[in-house]
Amino acid sequence: MSDYINIEKTESVLKIGFNRPDKKNALNGAMYFAVRDALIAGGDDPNVRAVIIYGAGGDFTAGNDLKEFLEFASSNQETFPAKEFLDVLIPYSKPVIAAVDGLAVGIGATMTIHCDLVYASEETRFQMPFVNLGLNPEAGSSFALPQLIGYHNAAEIILLGGMVTAKRAYEMGFVNAVVKQSELMDTAMNAAQRIAELPPTPIRLAKSMMKKHFTDKIMETNEKEFRSFVGRLSSSEAGEAVQAFMEKRKPDFSQFE
Ligand code: COA
Repeated sequence: MSDYINIEKTESVLKIGFNRPDKKNALNGAMYFAVRDALIAGGDDPNVRAVIIYGAGGDFTAGNDLKEFLEFASSNQETFPAKEFLDVLIPYSKPVIAAVDGLAVGIGATMTIHCDLVYASEETRFQMPFVNLGLNPEAGSSFALPQLIGYHNAAEIILLGGMVTAKRAYEMGFVNAVVKQSELMDTAMNAAQRIAELPPTPIRLAKSMMKKHFTDKIMETNEKEFRSFVGRLSSSEAGEAVQAFMEKRKPDFSQFE
C-alpha cells in the first residue's frame, strides 16, 4: 500500500496511477511495491481485462526517487524495488496501456517499453538520463529499446540523455499516438475497453506470442543491467550527479577519467 498510488477498477479495466505530484511522481520503494502488488492482483483477477498506468497531476513520473538511490548505495539491501516491479511488468500476461503526460523520466520512460500501447499527451517529454547520472541503462532497455525503435534512435535517447518530445517519440515509433492532454485518459480508456470486449484468452495468447521471443532476453538483460547499476550507484560519478541534483547545481564531471 502507498498513499502515492491510486488503484481503481472501472468495469474490467484496472487503473494504476502515480500520485506524488509535489515530487513529479518520483517513485519510492513503497510506490513500486504497491504498483507491483496491484499488477499481480490484476493478473489474478479474471474480471480484469486490461491495465492502464498513468500519472496524476500533469506528469507521468520523474523516475526513481533519487534520494533512495543514495540510500541504496550506502546500504546492504539485496532487493531493489524498481527491479521487483519490472520483474512483474516485463512478463505480464494481460495488456498494459501507458497514458503518459508531462515528464516520463528514467523508469518513467523505460517502463513504457514493456507496455503494449503507449499514448502520450502533447506535453510529454521522455528522458532516459542514465549516463547523465553516472549509471547504465535499466529495465532491459539496452536490448529492448534498439529492438523497438532501431539502434540510432535508441542511441539518440540513451547516449545523448536529453529530453525527447512527444512528437519526436512518435516519429521514432516509441509511442502509438500523441493526443491532446484533455483527451489522454479517454484515449487510453477507449483502447482498454476495446480490448476488454474481445475474447480474453486469445488476447493473452497473442501478447505472449508476440513477446515470447524477446521476454526471456529482456529479463536476462534486466538482471545484468541491474547488477551493473547497483555497482554504479556507489561510483563517484553517480555520487556527484545525485549530490548535484540534491544541491540544485550542475554536476561537475571534469575530474573523472
Ligand atoms: N527523485 C526525487 N525527487 C525528485 C525527483 C526524483 N527523481 N524528480 C523531481 N523531484 C523533486 C525535486 O527534488 C523537487 O522537490 P523540492 O520541491 O522538494 O525541491 C520537486 O520534485 C520538483 O522538481 P524540480 O526539479 O523542481 O522540477 P523541474 O520541473 O525543474 O525539473 C526534472 C523536473 C524531472 C527535469 C528534474 O526534477 C529532474 O531532473 N529530476 C530527476 C530525474 C531523474 O534523474 N530521475 C531518475 C532517473 S534514473
